[in-house]
Amino acid sequence: MEYDFDRVIDRRQTDSVKWGLNAKLFGDADVISAWVADMDFESPAPVIEAILARARHGIYGYGVRPAAYTDSMVAWMQTRFGWTTASEWYAFSPGVVPALALAVHAFTQPGDKIIIQPPVYPPFFSIVKNNGRQLVFNPLKFHDGKFQMDLENLERQIDPRTKMLILCSPHNPVGRVWSREELTALGEVCLRHNLLIISDEIHADLVLRGHTHTPLAMLSDAFAQNTLTCIAPSKTFNIAGLYTAATIIPNARLRAQFNHTRENLGLEGGNVFGIAALEAAYRTGGEWLTQLLDYLQGNADFLMSYFAERIPRIKPIRPEGTYLVWLDCREMGLDDAALKEWMLKRARVAMNEGHTFGEQGRGFLRLNFGCPRATLVEILQRIEQAARS
Ligand SMILES: Cc1ncc(COP(=O)(O)O)c(C=O)c1O
Repeated sequence: MEYDFDRVIDRRQTDSVKWGLNAKLFGDADVISAWVADMDFESPAPVIEAILARARHGIYGYGVRPAAYTDSMVAWMQTRFGWTTASEWYAFSPGVVPALALAVHAFTQPGDKIIIQPPVYPPFFSIVKNNGRQLVFNPLKFHDGKFQMDLENLERQIDPRTKMLILCSPHNPVGRVWSREELTALGEVCLRHNLLIISDEIHADLVLRGHTHTPLAMLSDAFAQNTLTCIAPSKTFNIAGLYTAATIIPNARLRAQFNHTRENLGLEGGNVFGIAALEAAYRTGGEWLTQLLDYLQGNADFLMSYFAERIPRIKPIRPEGTYLVWLDCREMGLDDAALKEWMLKRARVAMNEGHTFGEQGRGFLRLNFGCPRATLVEILQRIEQAARS
């Protein structure tokens, strides 16, 4: 079956965060939304069908997650990444951000230090800070034309109060797909200093040409015992609104602690449509994903050329994964407020402001290119016009 990713679907009437808040947040219902990380494509047909079949039943009482649900994830990890996992390693959470918060509660105490590597997904900051833990930064460095982890600085930051590192792999917003060598080096530093790794791999399936995602935990038994891997079908199959995710925890002691924390917070449930959709997505979504990745590659190539040829003042960092591109707008010489004003009032495209990903993001914008080509063309034309005037 050939999927049609060119089809433009109006989402403005669907109470969506990405498209339904423009008037309220930006004072202009007609800005084009290219911010929140969901895509403007329909989910795979078998996922829609699974949800419709469940909906048609008409009774939506409490659900259970059947064996086939977990089996679909075990098979996905095996076929996509070559990682052999056991079904009992999978722990439910109603989203990856909740899993990060659960891990912070389960494995650290108030006042403990947790390391993140900005610029990075904003909830990494709030989950740590708002739960009374200390944030420690190991900023990515831009070296040899790409963002890299600074392991020397990381080692210098660690003291006896430092308990955890939250990794973003692939990395939002800079689009890096970390290599086995980079992950191995990071894993070894963390083992040496007794730092638990929470590896947020929500973007694992969204990897562009020439790159391969490796789950850090599959690189050695020692890493597996020291890592929680957060996965979800939400970004991959565009079902984030179903709030269904999993954390893979090979270490039985850590798993018990994580599950205990989730139970104590009353987060056992999960919705019946999420159960149906996750299983259908992982069981049957491979072909759709292949076509999606081709389409996203086309979008990435298109926008890279467009900026180079027509908007040279803005320099996109070529994404290796995700459907997000990190735009270096520093040549425009605008401060945070002026860049925001330019983006919303002149370009009339809603992107994420770089500084919300940490100090290091100042002067950058994050553009979501998970949309039909026609929408992307309109976004780029608006940016081009605004950059000229
Ligand atoms: C790195 C990363 N983690 C987590 C999430 C959100 O996860 P969830 O919606 O499952 O809480 C996102 C969404 O953009 C993300 O980019």
